[in-house]
Amino acid sequence: MAWLGGFGRLCAVFLAIFSFSFQGASSQLVVSPVGPTLVNALAGSNVTLAVSFTGADDPTVTWLMGDLPVVTWTIGSDVPPDIVEDRKKVLNIEPKGSLTFVNVPLGYTSNYTFEMTKSGLAKSVTSFTLEVFERIQSVILTQPEFAIEGRKLFTLQYGMLQGVVQQQMWLFNDVEINSNSQYTVEKRSLVIHGLSRRDTGRYTVFLKNPFSSVTTHINVTVLYGPEKPTLEALPAQPFYLSGDTLSVSCEAEGFPLPTAKWDFGSQIPDQLNGVLNLTNVQTNQAGTYTCTLVTEQSKEKLQMNIILKVYERPSGNPMCSVQSVNNVNLQYYCMWPGGTPQAVLSFPTLSNTSSGTETFSLTFNASDNLNGKTVTCMADHPVEQNQCSVTASSPMKFLPSLMTRVSSDGKIVVTIECVSEASPEAVVSWSQGSETVAAGTTYQISSNATQLQIWDYNVSNFILQNYTCSCSNPLGSQRREVHLQGPSISDFSLFRNLNGTIVTLTWEVPPTSVVTGFDIQMKGPYLPNKSRSGTQRRGRADVFQTIQQKPGSVRSVDIFFLDPSLTYRFRVIPKALMTEGEPSEVQRIGPGEGLSRAAIVGIAAGIPCSLLFIVLLGIAIYFCFHSDKNKRRKIRYPVSRAVEKAITTQAETTPHILLTGGLKSPPDYNRLNLTPSERSMALPTFVPPAPVRVATTV
Ligand SMILES: *[C@@H]1O[C@H](CO)[C@@H](O)[C@H](O)[C@H]1NC(C)=O
Ligand SMILES: *[C@@H]1O[C@H](CO)[C@@H](O)[C@H](O)[C@H]1NC(C)=O
Ligand SMILES: *[C@@H]1O[C@H](CO)[C@@H](O)[C@H](O)[C@H]1NC(C)=O
Ligand SMILES: *[C@@H]1O[C@H](CO)[C@@H](O)[C@H](O)[C@H]1NC(C)=O
Ligand SMILES: *[C@@H]1O[C@H](CO)[C@@H](O)[C@H](O)[C@H]1NC(C)=O
Ligand SMILES: *[C@@H]1O[C@H](CO)[C@@H](O)[C@H](O)[C@H]1NC(C)=O
Ligand SMILES: *[C@@H]1O[C@H](CO)[C@@H](O)[C@H](O)[C@H]1NC(C)=O
Ligand SMILES: *[C@@H]1O[C@H](CO)[C@@H](O)[C@H](O)[C@H]1NC(C)=O
Ligand SMILES: *[C@@H]1O[C@H](CO)[C@@H](O)[C@H](O)[C@H]1NC(C)=O
Ligand SMILES: *[C@@H]1O[C@H](CO)[C@@H](O)[C@H](O)[C@H]1NC(C)=O
Ligand SMILES: *[C@@H]1O[C@H](CO)[C@@H](O)[C@H](O)[C@H]1NC(C)=O
Repeated sequence: MAWLGGFGRLCAVFLAIFSFSFQGASSQLVVSPVGPTLVNALAGSNVTLAVSFTGADDPTVTWLMGDLPVVTWTIGSDVPPDIVEDRKKVLNIEPKGSLTFVNVPLGYTSNYTFEMTKSGLAKSVTSFTLEVFERIQSVILTQPEFAIEGRKLFTLQYGMLQGVVQQQMWLFNDVEINSNSQYTVEKRSLVIHGLSRRDTGRYTVFLKNPFSSVTTHINVTVLYGPEKPTLEALPAQPFYLSGDTLSVSCEAEGFPLPTAKWDFGSQIPDQLNGVLNLTNVQTNQAGTYTCTLVTEQSKEKLQMNIILKVYERPSGNPMCSVQSVNNVNLQYYCMWPGGTPQAVLSFPTLSNTSSGTETFSLTFNASDNLNGKTVTCMADHPVEQNQCSVTASSPMKFLPSLMTRVSSDGKIVVTIECVSEASPEAVVSWSQGSETVAAGTTYQISSNATQLQIWDYNVSNFILQNYTCSCSNPLGSQRREVHLQGPSISDFSLFRNLNGTIVTLTWEVPPTSVVTGFDIQMKGPYLPNKSRSGTQRRGRADVFQTIQQKPGSVRSVDIFFLDPSLTYRFRVIPKALMTEGEPSEVQRIGPGEGLSRAAIVGIAAGIPCSLLFIVLLGIAIYFCFHSDKNKRRKIRYPVSRAVEKAITTQAETTPHILLTGGLKSPPDYNRLNLTPSERSMALPTFVPPAPVRVATTV
């Protein structure tokens, strides 16, 4: 500064000489700066705003700081300069009017105006600008808040320990930033508009004044996210089955990487880094899972849902049935309860508009086109499609069955059962004649109505009625009449063993006959085991005597110890308690009877005649044979009635014994051991079969 001051003074002297030379020629004040009018000064240094003037001696000069006069003095005067009190330490006026600042502080940056006046002369003015600087030191560039993408404004500002900045320059990744729509450079800051992740990078501020310059950096990271969330259930399936294992994960992009947390309703399941493992998943774990993604620093949040479906098949299989409503309508049922979700049940062939769940039913008026029609229920479940079928049908033709037993109190119990296959199950009703059977002591009807029991002490007309059972359902009905008969026997026959000592009697009972037992009767010699009457064998041959009594279930009996040389006759008397029915046919066993001694003698005598006749006949045949070869005939052999009968009797017994080597057409022994109820048999027809006539009669 010393050189500046010296130079100023030299100039002032030079200018003074110059102005004196023109004084006579012109009386005008001229003031001019010595050196530059823009003066930069470092704070604390000495600086002088140097002026020179011409046109007058000892003019009055005034320095104004801005608009404020701070120094006034008449040059050359003894009177000391008038300096504003609080600036006396800094401001000093030189003899030639220049203004000197001693240890100039920062606050003296201003426009200074030098005014010079002299009475009678026009005022002359010149101006300076003084800028006082400090060295720039310790600049810190800061971001007052997180840089978060999407913010409208984001500010970077610098601070420093000291310094006066004359020029600032901002750079982004070393490229200069100019104020534009994206950036605004303010006095001590840079404002970024519409912050985005592309603004992440190194920001530099370059600060400069005439005495120093500083460059400072800051790395700005723009936080973003969470965004582009990915929610995923693996394995990816439209639904899961209970018991399945799956994992649900949740993640999103962002900086820093967002954290993920799952919650399910009010529960917060165990999870790790946004991965939720569900093992053996149950239906109550189905629903909406919410993942909350948070970027820790920015507190930005994102929530996403995923819906998990966990299904369970209904247990068992769908069941179809058809039921009767008031014996008028048909109600088709389809049942498949349980499961998640419930199966949708429908009868597409019956209705294409209605469907239901758990227990679904449709009611229809019974009509012929439903009879025998198989109706399928479609059971739709996401896990499985299933179905069941049911066929409604009118009652089938059926045969009633009959059982007879004796109750403990000695009553005959006749049970008639009517079962007709039908769907829905047929309702059975009973009538006797034209009247409905009323249950009571005589009539008992089973709870399912298929059995009618008739209780009575004896086979009176009371029992021997026409009973009708009728089986009906909405689709139709079938009725059958049962005409109960008193005790009777059909198909009585007899077989004997090879040597004729044992005979087996077999018989049948008409299906509608009420029988509780049988008397086996024999006419002939007493049997050998009745030793006491062994000598009276032929004594009582004329009367049938009961030799055995058998229960109603028995259909055969063996008679032992017969003498093959004797003749026996057998018959069976069916009984219903005390009431005896018509006796069976009589079967005879033993040598033929009815040939008188004379007849035998006749036959014996006839034999030689017959032989002769045969010889003659042979001759006749011989001639016939030779006369007409095409007309060979057997000549009928005339046999007497007695012989014919004998042969017939033999045919009934001996030849068969020879052929079978024992019993003729052996009886069905399986049948003999059957229990009474098994013995009951369906009635093949309701006309009792015609009794089989046996050749042998008495
Ligand atoms: C400024 O002037 C004052 C008084 O004349 C003097 O004491 C000081 O040393 C000067 N300062 C400099 C830096 O020249
Ligand atoms: C000095 O004057 C100029 C123009 O006349 C003006 O722009 C500037 O602001 C002034 N400086 C101060 C510190 O008053
Ligand atoms: C800014 O980032 C650059 C590289 O990315 C690195 O070299 C530098 O040290 C970082 N500066 C600060 C202040 O973190
Ligand atoms: C989920 O399962 C995977 C692999 O099966 C395993 O790596 C992970 O740690 C499990 N996470 C949790 C929270 O159990
Ligand atoms: C149901 O069936 C009737 C005739 O059977 C038919 O006209 C109708 O379009 C069907 N409706 C639907 C929804 O399939
Ligand atoms: C059955 O038929 C009668 C008339 O015949 C009718 O009124 C009734 O609605 C029908 N019911 C059903 C279930 O179809
Ligand atoms: C009806 O009831 C009787 C006895 O209660 C039973 O023996 C019979 O099996 C039943 N019939 C049907 C078809 O349920
Ligand atoms: C049947 O029994 C009743 C009384 O129990 C009796 O009055 C009637 O005479 C009996 N009828 C026959 C045929 O035995
Ligand atoms: C039972 O019906 C048959 C023929 O239908 C009839 O001949 C008989 O008299 C009836 N018996 C009774 C007891 O009504
Ligand atoms: C023949 O009769 C005797 C007893 O007289 C008997 O022991 C034997 O078993 C009978 N033979 C046949 C084949 O029945
Ligand atoms: C022979 O005696 C036995 C028992 O001794 C008896 O069961 C059987 O009925 C008797 N036979 C006849 C025909 O009486």
